[in-house]
Amino acid sequence: MKTEELFKNKIGIIGAGNIGQALILKLLEKQYPYENIKLTYNGSIFTFNNIYDNNLVDMISSNAEIVKISSILVLSVPPQSFKAIGDFNLNDDTLVISFMAGINSEDIKKQTGSNNVIRIIPTGPDTIMDSQAVAGVYGENEIANALFDLLDIDYVKVENEEQMNYIAIVGCLPVVYCRVSPESEETIEAIEKISEDFPQFRELAKKCEKLIPEEKSEEFISKFITPGGVTQAILNGLNSGKTVYESLIMGLDRNKELSS
Ligand SMILES: NC(=O)c1ccc[n+]([C@@H]2O[C@H](COP(=O)([O-])OP(=O)(O)OC[C@H]3O[C@@H](n4cnc5c(N)ncnc54)[C@H](OP(=O)(O)O)[C@@H]3O)[C@@H](O)[C@H]2O)c1
Repeated sequence: MKTEELFKNKIGIIGAGNIGQALILKLLEKQYPYENIKLTYNGSIFTFNNIYDNNLVDMISSNAEIVKISSILVLSVPPQSFKAIGDFNLNDDTLVISFMAGINSEDIKKQTGSNNVIRIIPTGPDTIMDSQAVAGVYGENEIANALFDLLDIDYVKVENEEQMNYIAIVGCLPVVYCRVSPESEETIEAIEKISEDFPQFRELAKKCEKLIPEEKSEEFISKFITPGGVTQAILNGLNSGKTVYESLIMGLDRNKELSS
């Protein structure tokens, strides 16, 4: 797909927090027309300050308006907040791209009304900003592929949605590596064990090694964490003395909880 064609789409980002704003900033860096991007958030002053600092105030819209005008709708609210947004009454003309962990395509289709749903789970916002993001994608759509390419996201397609559960923990690995070296026996063992169930895990885990920041700053880690999310569950495991494997399984379990 030609970039000019892609740029004609009106993109609406529901939930412009860490991931949502990283996506917008990357799109603007790639010359996506400012006027074709709209965003919403939930009223937090902290988020507004970021939106202001990033010069995105003119993009602020409402969920009702965004749902009406967007041909590409991006869902980047916390999984726990998705239900509360309510039904969208869309049809298949709207491409819905969900960045949410946990919520499966069937539930997204039901709530949005569009059967044109793609799920992607990338590594954290800083990795998107640095054009280094690694991701897993479920679903097939030419426009979505063009968008992910534009965002420089290095993604693998998974064959079935069950595998997105493992992708949700891949997205957390750069943070895990800030705490426990990827070369440690414990980490290697964890990755091998999980790869028995999801063989692509090995390759993705390797790619995540290049995402460890030089300074393992708390800021880098905090941007990876969606409160109550999968990364948080894994870190809770590590903080309470569990092994890397046990902590990753806690992340998998949290992902399952979020989906129910
Ligand atoms: N962070 C990561 O590294 C990462 C990686 C992969 C996938 N994800 C997924 O990406 C999603 C977003 O994660 P995040 O870390 O960016 O979370 P976040 O920083 O908490 O951002 C979520 C945003 O959603 C907004 N929101 C909540 N309810 C809303 C509503 N009803 N209408 C409009 N906006 C609403 C929040 O607004 P307020 O700020 O006003 O509360 C917030 O700005 C999650 O589903 C997560 O599973 C995250």
